[in-house]
Amino acid sequence: MNEHIDVSRQGAVQIIRINRPDKKNALTRAMYRRMVEALRGGDADPEIRCHVFLGVPGAFSAGNDLNDFMTIATGGDGGTEVWDFLMALATAEKPMISGADGIAVGIGTTLHLHCDLTFATTRTMFHTPFTDLGLVPEAGSSFLAPALLGRQQAFALLAMGEPFPAQKAAELGMIYRVVDEHDLEKEVLSAAERVAAKPPQALKIARDLMRAPRDPLIARVKEEGAHFLQRLNSDEARAALLAFLSRKK
Ligand code: COA
Repeated sequence: MNEHIDVSRQGAVQIIRINRPDKKNALTRAMYRRMVEALRGGDADPEIRCHVFLGVPGAFSAGNDLNDFMTIATGGDGGTEVWDFLMALATAEKPMISGADGIAVGIGTTLHLHCDLTFATTRTMFHTPFTDLGLVPEAGSSFLAPALLGRQQAFALLAMGEPFPAQKAAELGMIYRVVDEHDLEKEVLSAAERVAAKPPQALKIARDLMRAPRDPLIARVKEEGAHFLQRLNSDEARAALLAFLSRKK
């Protein structure tokens, strides 16, 4: 159980809702652990045919909890939860549909690159300020984004940390559709129900044929992860994390 991740079912659709609004849905280790359980459990359950990721109004996720990054940056144990989540995402066997409203930072952006359909709202901004934090792209984004967007737009997103409004993300093929924020959940769930109603074996083959090959993706997640850990222990990252965590509002 984790109070900040709500897992529910609507028919054959499993809904994983990130629900930590006071911290803009920043993800802690316990939250990743719960999402891994949900993804793996849903994959193993024949009654579930589709996973849905949702956040709260105004925030899909502000990314990894920066306190957890600071723990690693100061020599503490980071655990395996993030790694487990990235593996669960990369290897999820059933379609994943996401809906993002508002803030979508770091893994709050890169998670969607693994999804089969992503809906966002007119006020959603995708943003990966990795290099500004002294960090590097993660979650296989350095592999998936250039294939989806072309290398230059991927560079703008992942290396320049340029915020991409939902409309731009849709025009570039990074996400499926932009909808009004009031319609987001309805649209996401309606698409999920349609997906869940398809013949599952044919759908699985179709999906597997279209997804990026898993082996190089997983190899890239590992390669990024090694850099990421090293970067967390850099002066650049420590200074950026300290600046955020000690900022005065
Ligand atoms: N980790 C930990 N706490 C976070 C967080 C994160 N990634 N993102 C937001 N929070 C916390 C803030 O510290 C604040 O907590 P407080 O009320 O106890 O001070 C609360 O969530 C609300 O955030 P706030 O910054 O006041 O909201 P905002 O709407 O002004 O800005 C963001 C939202 C997402 C732009 C801003 O919080 C931000 O830049 N967060 C860091 C994002 C990030 O770098 N993620 C990692 C990418 S690899």
